[in-house]
Amino acid sequence: AGDDGVKVTVIGTGWVGLTTAAVFAFLGNDVIGYDVNEKLIEELRAGRVPFFEPHLEELTREGLANRRLSFTTDIGAALSTAEIIFLAVGTPPAPDGRGVEMSFVSRAATVIGENLRPGKLRVVVNKSTVPVGSNGWVDSFIRQGLAQQGDAGPVDFVVASNPEFLREGSAIADTLYPDRVVIGATDARAIEALTRLYHPILTQDFTPPSFLPRPAGRGKVPLVVVDPVTAELIKYAANAFLATKISFINEIANLCDFVGANVKDVARGIGLDHRIGEAFLNAGIGWGGSCFPKDVIALIREAEAYGYEAKLLKAAYEVNAAQRFVVIRKLQEVLKTVRGKTIGILGLAFKPNTDDLRGAPALDIIRKLGELGAIVRAYDPVAMHRCRAEVPDLPASYANDIYNLATGADALVLVTEWEEFTQANWADIARLMRTPVVIDGRNALNKKYLEGLGFVYRGVGV
Ligand code: UGA
Repeated sequence: AGDDGVKVTVIGTGWVGLTTAAVFAFLGNDVIGYDVNEKLIEELRAGRVPFFEPHLEELTREGLANRRLSFTTDIGAALSTAEIIFLAVGTPPAPDGRGVEMSFVSRAATVIGENLRPGKLRVVVNKSTVPVGSNGWVDSFIRQGLAQQGDAGPVDFVVASNPEFLREGSAIADTLYPDRVVIGATDARAIEALTRLYHPILTQDFTPPSFLPRPAGRGKVPLVVVDPVTAELIKYAANAFLATKISFINEIANLCDFVGANVKDVARGIGLDHRIGEAFLNAGIGWGGSCFPKDVIALIREAEAYGYEAKLLKAAYEVNAAQRFVVIRKLQEVLKTVRGKTIGILGLAFKPNTDDLRGAPALDIIRKLGELGAIVRAYDPVAMHRCRAEVPDLPASYANDIYNLATGADALVLVTEWEEFTQANWADIARLMRTPVVIDGRNALNKKYLEGLGFVYRGVGV
């Protein structure tokens, strides 16, 4: 492999870690992915990515083929040449639901400390989303690990923060063409090392992969250099703001339903004000996923620790928790009772282009429908396999495709706006259903067209 690239090690080759590793390898650096999960490393070595993220497998295979990218479960080997070490282990919600599970981070930091040898400077960069102040905490765990080594000689390292803003389903594009890069560090050498690593992205000076052309008009990428605590807060604040923005438009959508206004037009009408912006104003059943719920809660808890009540964030959370059940109210309006009715759920994943079921509204909607005595069937283009394995007790059976799901159904509920659903043959679907009722939880279907086909259509605020 190359000579001008940076030697990068990524600890934790899950979704964030593998994306980071594959992209930096693509940009000409020498990257080692390390994970404790031997089966995962074996898969990755064989060029198989065991989770769904567009283009990630291609990029991983390319990295393996040109030897910029390798994988190991040997921490000593992973760290021996590293200049920059990314921490990208999971920070799931804690089992008590009140905080963030930090044991993977503390364990990884300790192991790094136990295995760093004297030599050139190592910059340990935290990419996992961690509570504010974790930078210092990571530093102390690395020191504890170092102390375990006894007298290993002086080991030169600094800890920095570099939050990621990737979306599932567009992780590679978001990494190559970000809106900004945030570096949280006070040490000049750490800032210098990370700026060098990010140089091709900041200047957009690289040949885009054939499958992901550079978006038109994409210029230089702003670099935000701040102290670590501020960087950590930027990450939470960005997600909390976006989540609040969605809860806001959902509240407006509910009002639209009362007064007979159209929330899509409201969103456009306010979004064209550049101070507001049109993005993330799609009303519907609200946000799920592994990030928004966890990060909004984490920020609320963070505030609580200081005796401050984050009222706005709490409201955003509550609006969202209730919003997913709006489709059930609408079903009841149309069908009167759902008991004994066959309801087809279109989509299980929390959003399209992923098989991720964490925080997925579909699961809550299905459980509630089950409680209400409905016969629930579901179909998702990629998430069914995962759903069977991870949520075996879900009160639903599965269909092979959207037409199979429609056959004999009393109503369909669109929960995830997969293109396969928006592009389906709705005339056929109308003929297959017992009663052509569609509740569009994402406002993704064409109301006029469907009504023309004889559907009873209900969106959210449209
Ligand atoms: C989110 C952020 O968008 C990323 O910037 C961030 O890096 C990531 O969390 C993270 O912290 O790792 P993600 O959870 O992958 O990314 O998904 P989004 O595309 O942001 O969607 C989140 C949820 O909001 C989905 O359930 C989606 O259906 C919903 N949503 C989104 C709406 O209901 N309306 C919208 O207008 C946009």
